[in-house]
Amino acid sequence: MTSVFVDPSPSPLALLLLGKAADSTSERGVECPGDLPPASDPGLVARAQAAKDTLGERVFILGHHYQRDEVIQFADVTGDSFKLAQKAADMPLAEFIVFCGVHFMAESADILTGDSQQVILPDLAAGCSMADMAEISQVEQCWTDLEAAGVAGVTIPITYMNSAAAIKAFTGKHGGSICTSSNAQRSLEWAFERGEKVLFMPDQHLGRNTAVRELGLGLDDCVVFNPNKSNGGLTVDELRNAKMILWKGHCSVHGRFTPECVDQVRAEVPGVTVIVHPECTYEVVEKADQVGSTEKIIAAIEAAPAGSAWAIGTELNLVKRLALAHPDQKITYLDKTVCFCSTMNRIDLPHLVYSLELLASGNVVNQISVDPETSHWAKIALDRMLALPGVTPTLD
Ligand code: 13P
Ligand code: SF4
Repeated sequence: MTSVFVDPSPSPLALLLLGKAADSTSERGVECPGDLPPASDPGLVARAQAAKDTLGERVFILGHHYQRDEVIQFADVTGDSFKLAQKAADMPLAEFIVFCGVHFMAESADILTGDSQQVILPDLAAGCSMADMAEISQVEQCWTDLEAAGVAGVTIPITYMNSAAAIKAFTGKHGGSICTSSNAQRSLEWAFERGEKVLFMPDQHLGRNTAVRELGLGLDDCVVFNPNKSNGGLTVDELRNAKMILWKGHCSVHGRFTPECVDQVRAEVPGVTVIVHPECTYEVVEKADQVGSTEKIIAAIEAAPAGSAWAIGTELNLVKRLALAHPDQKITYLDKTVCFCSTMNRIDLPHLVYSLELLASGNVVNQISVDPETSHWAKIALDRMLALPGVTPTLD
């Protein structure tokens, strides 16, 4: 029998397990020292409310649209990544920002908030598989490859919000900007006013959809840089000829919608309008009727007349809530088999109660803190996005 060598050392991107104690060999500080309430505790809603009331104006809770109902009910504001980044930057008074979302969002909030404010992620295991598809060492190697091809000097990095702070800092240092799905078009236009090429990280689909559909570039202007291959799996000529160098990353939730899902829903639901998030593949977006960030999807449903039929291609928590809030419309999930975003779902009521109660008793847990050097450069890139002209302000 051949023996298979299994390397016991953890990958830096190892999946994280829930637990009451930290396993330092496999978990990034998932430590709940003894008092994580059981999910079945019937008093959790009252406990969360009581802890929130005790904290009063010292705490501000941000909730991404993909969060569970049990959590979103406690959010002071809900929004997409862009709106939540704006809100974080606009909340100078709250001592604690509890971020019900995922790790990269909490990092961005820490970068955008003042030094006296502390950002809390109720479960440190709430990461993002897309953000984990780009590591800073890979990005640095990619830039070295672009330098060797003689194109780094004319390339502007545009980095999706869904990325680690270190990559945002790299982007700031190299003259680039962050973008979200609500301002990707404006960010790319901004970049092409300053350079000849864009290195778009880490979501190849958002990059391709925006470049081709909004800016009128051709599919053949885009190449995909695979960080696991030498020179990204590209020839020097391919790097030199491309206008869009797309990082090989994707969202595991939106990547599951297929063109066949669109065909099927059109066959089953007469008159249906298909609306999808731009993290879906180009083929899906091309088949859909409308495309937009979570805020745009919500706005479309809210403006739609009674009796209209929609198939929505984004995360299930949001679609479920939209369907419940608009019983006069026929709202269908675009794919019958797609599930929730598992990492967004890590933030549940027990973890919210756990973090709020400890905050109320004077113990700061699960703080997300970006080091000053990374924060400085990442803020430059984030501020470039927040200052983009023509980007619809979503502050209310
Ligand atoms: P938006 O909030 O920008 O729509 O992004 C969706 C998403 O996948 C967040 O993780
Ligand atoms: Fe990441 Fe996709 Fe989940 Fe958003 S929906 S947190 S991009 S895996």
